[in-house]
Amino acid sequence: MDDQHFYMIRGGVEGRERLRMVARVMRPGTLALIERAGVGAGLRCLDVGSGGGEVTFDLAAAVGPTGSVVGIDVDPVKVELAAADAEAAGVGNVEFRVADLVDGLGEAEYDVVYARFVLWTLSDPTSALRDMVRALRPGGRLFVEDIDFAASLCSPTSADFQRSVEVFLETARRMGVDANFGRRVPETVLAAGLVDVQTNIVQPGGLEGEAKVLHPLSFENIKAMVVHHDVATADEVDRIVDALYDLARDPTTYMLCPRIVQAYGDKR
Ligand SMILES: C[S@@+](CC[C@H](N)C(=O)[O-])C[C@H]1O[C@@H](n2cnc3c(N)ncnc32)[C@H](O)[C@@H]1O
Repeated sequence: MDDQHFYMIRGGVEGRERLRMVARVMRPGTLALIERAGVGAGLRCLDVGSGGGEVTFDLAAAVGPTGSVVGIDVDPVKVELAAADAEAAGVGNVEFRVADLVDGLGEAEYDVVYARFVLWTLSDPTSALRDMVRALRPGGRLFVEDIDFAASLCSPTSADFQRSVEVFLETARRMGVDANFGRRVPETVLAAGLVDVQTNIVQPGGLEGEAKVLHPLSFENIKAMVVHHDVATADEVDRIVDALYDLARDPTTYMLCPRIVQAYGDKR
């Protein structure tokens, strides 16, 4: 399997359904950030690693008909589905393109560049962030939201949950990516030369609901990668997935998603 072109959490249609759930759980935090940071009418935005397009559509609503949003993603299946959604919903101010953020972002074109849950999946997030900054016009604003996976929580403590976090982190490490990149977002944004940097934390979860299901679902989705990188056997993953779904169904178990670090800053 070619790791460089295999996103850790499965892509395509199945991946997109998972991203839809991620988007529902994460939407309140993202909307609050968009509003607080003043993404308003008429702005030109770029959504990097747009996936199912959920952030793209929320940016499109925020900038209105006088603004525009381009969503780019390397996964052609997700791009096609997101474009079909835009057409079906009659959203005229978005465009989805298949592109790699490494060479597909353009120069000084955008007022807003946004990347949610993308940088942690890359082997060189620092250089990707610099590419994103290049796509901003001077005075434009960069937004990053990313995960700090180790902060995922289950209480009462569960050995299966702990093991799933270890396996996730180790698989990511063997793939050359950092699933705790979220905690490095503020320093990376500062190092890229952005000014007036603001940060915030969001951590969905609870005793019930989709926020609890995300953990087993994500773990189930990385099975092929876990086994490929010899971090655990398929049998162990299957057993842990079952245990995680049991925890998610148990109304006395409190679970938190990975901590989400949000940051934005301005290009001079
Ligand atoms: C976890 S998903 C996040 C999707 C979306 N931003 C969201 O928050 O719902 C990460 C996305 O980044 C895309 N991606 C990964 N590497 C990329 C690259 N080099 N260039 C463009 N997109 C990339 C993946 O295909 C995937 O759709």
